[in-house]
Amino acid sequence: MTATSQDYVAESASVATGPATASRIKLHPFPVGWYRIASSEDVKAGELVSMRWFGEDLICWRSADGGEPRVFDAYCAHMGANIGRGGFVQGDTVVCPFHHWKYDCAGKNVEIPYRDKPQRGARQKVWTAIERNGQILVWNAPDGSEPDWTPPQLPEATDPEFVSIVSEKIWTVRTHVQEVFENTVDVSHFQFVHGVAGFGSVELVEDGPMFRATASVSMETSRGKVDGAVESELWGLGLDIVRQVGIGRARSIFSVTPIDDEQVVATHTFFVPGDADGPSRYGKAFMREFSRQIEQDIPIWETKLYRAKPRLATGENAILDFRRWATQFYAADDE
Ligand code: FES
Ligand SMILES: [Fe+2]
Repeated sequence: MTATSQDYVAESASVATGPATASRIKLHPFPVGWYRIASSEDVKAGELVSMRWFGEDLICWRSADGGEPRVFDAYCAHMGANIGRGGFVQGDTVVCPFHHWKYDCAGKNVEIPYRDKPQRGARQKVWTAIERNGQILVWNAPDGSEPDWTPPQLPEATDPEFVSIVSEKIWTVRTHVQEVFENTVDVSHFQFVHGVAGFGSVELVEDGPMFRATASVSMETSRGKVDGAVESELWGLGLDIVRQVGIGRARSIFSVTPIDDEQVVATHTFFVPGDADGPSRYGKAFMREFSRQIEQDIPIWETKLYRAKPRLATGENAILDFRRWATQFYAADDE
């Protein structure tokens, strides 16, 4: 099952109340980077989908011949109608529901149906978007800068021996993207929150926007105890490529995207061994385990503070390494 962004917003009505995210976590809510806004199949050829991300109303649409996904600000440059409410795609243009002005893929007004000429100054703001691993990603940069990196294409996403499945649940959580990913280096919480006792050391590799944490762990499997590792490879503060080393070849892209300064949406896109009948037994167990872990983390994320100067125990320095790496995604004065 895939959910549209409308589902995300509908779910958010049920979250617990308590101190607002922005009052608990004093970090800019929208760090620079790539974020998942939909699965590729959520926006089909000739379709327009209304969305809300980064505190903005957006539309994502694809031309009738199935071109690349385009992401625009939702409000029309003419008189401000929300194109996501009744707008539609015609050929390779998007049409506003109010006076039927047409915009091309670059956001330029190309036709006013009741005038000879378009209005050259009328433009929709276009967000830089790419499709990767079956996902639509958008570049968020509050200062308007263009991307200088892209997340990797995974071999499993096109491997016929793998099936790709978006997690059945899409979690809407009252927290900040950085708080979610800090989990990957917080080795001690795995024992107490997730009941995984065998976590040992964590090894870190940093390369620009990439941060890889490999935590050694002994796991209970149907074959008994296996010494392996959980590898989390972050690409910015929106995407985490997760796998279990030494157990099987399943992977997930765990994506977290801010709706606004109060809530984020978390999704797993799984790539697990399987065939036309679906995922293998191992694949199913992998998906279950990763979904279970998020649900255990949510009550902590939704109520905790961000301590800028945490009192860490010996051996917890990976948390500070992660935070130092994360500073690159904030403008100098807003972190
Ligand atoms: S407000 Fe969009 S065409 Fe007039
Ligand atoms: Fe966790």
